Amino acid sequence: MEAGARRPAVLIARRLLPAGLERLAGECEIREGGLEATAKRLLELAPGVAAIVADPTVPVGEPLLEAAGPQLRVVANFAVGYDNVDLEACRRRGVAVANTPGVLTNATAELALALTLAAARRTSEAELELRSGRWRGWDPGAHLGLELSGATFGIAGMGRIGRRYAELVRSLAGALLYTSRTPKADAEDALGARRVGFDELVRLSDVVSLHLPATPETSGLVGRDELRAMKTHAVLVNSARGPLVDAQALAEALREGEIGAAGLDVYENEPDVPAALLEAPRLVLLPHIGSATTRARDAMARLVADNVLAVLRGEEPPNRVA
Ligand code: NAP
Ligand code: GLV
Repeated sequence: MEAGARRPAVLIARRLLPAGLERLAGECEIREGGLEATAKRLLELAPGVAAIVADPTVPVGEPLLEAAGPQLRVVANFAVGYDNVDLEACRRRGVAVANTPGVLTNATAELALALTLAAARRTSEAELELRSGRWRGWDPGAHLGLELSGATFGIAGMGRIGRRYAELVRSLAGALLYTSRTPKADAEDALGARRVGFDELVRLSDVVSLHLPATPETSGLVGRDELRAMKTHAVLVNSARGPLVDAQALAEALREGEIGAAGLDVYENEPDVPAALLEAPRLVLLPHIGSATTRARDAMARLVADNVLAVLRGEEPPNRVA
């Protein structure tokens, strides 16, 4: 940015933490939508901005890009996943797209582990019983769950988060299976993981944990057939994206005892959670908090600012995805 030039405007679609906001505010005019910003409000705020800071709940497609106008240069997503951004539309307009990989890997893998343990041991329903005053004392037959020591863990997607999850569960695992488009020799050598097809993964695993991006290929990855193929005691964990799992089929599989338990952090139309899931047994539900540690979120905010400022300075952004 040239000295004396007008400060470029940045639309923060919802909220950016101070760790990133302060960096941007030093060089840019900030327009903030706020957590309650509607699509209509974002269209009102967008005209004339050089950058848009989005997050997984903000669809960035033709309407917002068109409203921003031809001076728009970058969309920086406050997330590693960028399925909310229409990459082709951005490419057509010469708008760079960036995300925040790596800095949230530990936080998200740890959350997936927390969901795994909570689902296997049915901690949500046990705590609810206590909080609601229904607990009648120690019961040898109540809340019996799945012991994970020696379990076969199936990891769908051996990328950054899948790999870290594999490291975290390795001391529990009897066996580690994984799927990936490309073989991961390092995970095989260092962790003893074995690459299999998805059908085999769901059939053989005691725990199936999803770590794939939402794409047309991964949409509906776990549906009725996959749930029926799982072991009746198996645990399904989805900390990736909602569309990977057919929510109605999952609720039914839990009701019918086709699988043992499940843990979800993500949903297809957040913040809506299907009633069938809210009513399903042996299901732990979290409100998309995978990366919600202070360390990860501050680092993500800083990366967002670095990506925006790099593009506005005419430099290559550190985390370009398009
Ligand atoms: P990553 O390093 O890019 O890993 C993604 C993995 O998915 C890679 O191993 C990739 O395989 C595999 N993959 C991609 N497309 C595939 C396809 N069509 N079929 C089969 N495998 C495919 O990403 P990451 O940093 O681990 O993040 C993974 C996802 O987690 C994100 O996209 C996001 O949706 C989700 N996430 C959620 C939260 C949360 O708050 N719950 C937080 C962070 C991330 P190859 O290596 O062979 O290409
Ligand atoms: C969060 O969901 C992310 O993709 O970072």
